[in-house]
Order: sequence, then structure tokens, then C-alpha cells
Amino acid sequence: MTALLDIRALRVELPGSPPLAVLDDVTLSVNPGEILGVVGESGAGKSVTGAAVLGLLTSPLRQVAGEIRFDGTRIDILPEARMRRLRGSEIAMVFQDPLTALNPVFTVGQQLIQTIREHSPMGRTAAHARAVALLREVGISDPEARLDAYPHEFSGGMRQRVVIALALAGEPRLIIADEPTTALDVSIQAQIIALLVGLARSRGVGVLLITHDMGVIAEAADRVAVLYAGRVAEIGPVAEVLLHPRHPYTRGLVGAIPRIGAGLEVLPQIPGAMPRLDALPEGCAFNPRCPLADARCRAERPVPRLLGAVQVACFHAEARQTDAAQIERPDA
Ligand SMILES: Nc1ncnc2c1ncn2[C@@H]1O[C@H](COP(=O)(O)OP(=O)(O)OP(=O)(O)O)[C@@H](O)[C@H]1O
Ligand SMILES: [Mg+2]
Repeated sequence: MTALLDIRALRVELPGSPPLAVLDDVTLSVNPGEILGVVGESGAGKSVTGAAVLGLLTSPLRQVAGEIRFDGTRIDILPEARMRRLRGSEIAMVFQDPLTALNPVFTVGQQLIQTIREHSPMGRTAAHARAVALLREVGISDPEARLDAYPHEFSGGMRQRVVIALALAGEPRLIIADEPTTALDVSIQAQIIALLVGLARSRGVGVLLITHDMGVIAEAADRVAVLYAGRVAEIGPVAEVLLHPRHPYTRGLVGAIPRIGAGLEVLPQIPGAMPRLDALPEGCAFNPRCPLADARCRAERPVPRLLGAVQVACFHAEARQTDAAQIERPDA
């Protein structure tokens, strides 16, 4: 099967002397109907990964190596005009703050109908009917009436549903969702996650689900890529990675999974902080925080290895889980 999204050895740099690697050898894929979670601390490169797929790297970042394929076709080399057509039709995006995706001066109906007609030529009546159907699909009750409302008249969770309806208007095959629930009330987060999972299943849409929240990953993702300092530390099926995390960084994250909605920040519980781009250590980027680090980890960068269904970039991936129990939560 051709992956829907296939990122190979992607390298994104911040120019300078020397240039700094924001993403370094990132390889991951998303299949149709699959949710790939991308998780990692602030600054790990999650959003840059999503932006690279969308062709929306912000200046001065630039892709200097690697390939990004959508349904087998390279999209990282497409001219901007073609990329723009792809965005919002085949590849849609949902971001953290629904307000940035919505225009405050137009009703939700006007925005939906316009987007629908941009993507498939149809009359107003047909587009109106389609807008109603989309709002219903994303769980907005009384969609006929809600079409005439302005974005500010919706609650945060309902607004994010509208954004997802807008994303669906172009019949996308891939959705890049960057922290889609982070700005939402905790009780609403699970509903939006359930909506994304439902869409992936019912429409066969692939989702790249970016989040800093392992609880969201546990709830929604089929596979997960753990990013650390612009590198993939571990990638594999969620059940496997959460149950038997092999990278010490993943073990730290998983050791502190909050229940979804508990509103607990997980990541700061690993002692230390991710290094700055200009201060990456030699060898494994995680070594200064890793209880298993030895001389080799400080000198040599671990190449990702396949262990069962999981790919992991760690020399100590076979270490017994109890060895990693040294990575403790400060409050444990
Ligand atoms: N336009 C830019 N110019 C310079 N540096 C950038 C730019 N965009 C991102 N970076 C840097 O690239 C790194 C990765 O950023 P990115 O936004 O992908 O992190 P993230 O994993 O999404 O973090 P968060 O959880 O905070 O959203 C960070 O060090 C960030 O400072
Ligand atoms: Mg981000």
C-alpha cells in the first residue's frame, strides 16, 4: 500500500553559520484512515513538521534535504500555486486556535458555502445543503440555524467543530491537526478527539495529529512518533509504544500519562529541559537528561533500529523497563 503521506529523511534548517537543524532526518508516514500522533516537548519540531507538509515553512526556515510524498507524488518540490491548490482540498489543516481559521465578519454559513464552492463548482442551494450536512457531520445541532451565526457566537469547542467542517469542505484525504484541542476546555477535548477519530474511520482520512499530550495520543492515535530535538526518538503502534516504551524519553513521557481531561502537563516531569537548537549535545540529543546515558551515547548518534514493530533511536532500547524506572516523576 502506498502511504498517504510519506516523509523521508526530512531536514529543515535555520540558516546561519553554522546552520541549525530544526528537523534532522525525520522519517514518518501516515496511511489512509490512520491517525499518526506526533508528540514531544515544546520546540521538538512538531509544528515545523506539519508546516513542511503543508508547504508553509515560515521564513527563514528551509528544507535542505529529504522528501515529502503525498499519495506517491513529491509535494515538497511543487510550485507554490499547485501547493496552494492542494492545501485546503486534498490536505486540510486544523490548528490550536479556531478563531485564527475563521473570519469574524462573515457568518459560519457564508464561510462554509464559499469554501465548498471553491472546491467543487455547485449552485448556492446545493452548497447550502452541503454546508448543513457538514455541520451535522461534525456534531453541531440545528445546523440550519447555526449557519447564520458568526464565529464569536459559538463556544470554543463548537468553533473547532466549525473549523473541522471547513477543513472537510474540500474533501481532504489528509488532515494536519496541530494541537487541535489544546485551547479547549478539558471536558470538550475528548469530544473533538472523538470527532477526529470518527472522521478518520468513516471517511478514510489520514490524520497527522500533533500534540504535546500523551493522553491525547493514547486516546486517538493508531501509531505515534515521539520527537525530540527535531529527531524521531521512537515510532510505532500506539499500544506497543505506550505499553513497552523503549526510548528513555518515551518512558519518561509514558510514565506520567494523565487521563484525558485531567489537565495535567506531562512533559515537564522529565527532569531538565530540551536543549536549544544552538546547544545540541554530541551523540544522542537526549543524553544529558538520560539516566542510561554512557560514553557511547555522548559520542555517537544512535541510528534508528527496528525492534519488533517499533523503530527506536537508542543504544539502550533493549534495557529492561525497570532500569528506566530511574526516570521518575519528581512527585512520585
Ligand atoms: N520561523 C522560525 N524561525 C526560527 N526558528 C523557528 C521558526 N519556527 C520554528 N523555529 C524553531 O524550531 C524549533 C521547533 O519548533 P516547533 O514550532 O516545530 O516546535 P513544537 O514542537 O511545535 O513546539 P510547541 O509544542 O511549543 O508547539 C524550535 O526551536 C523553534 O524555536
Ligand atoms: Mg507547535
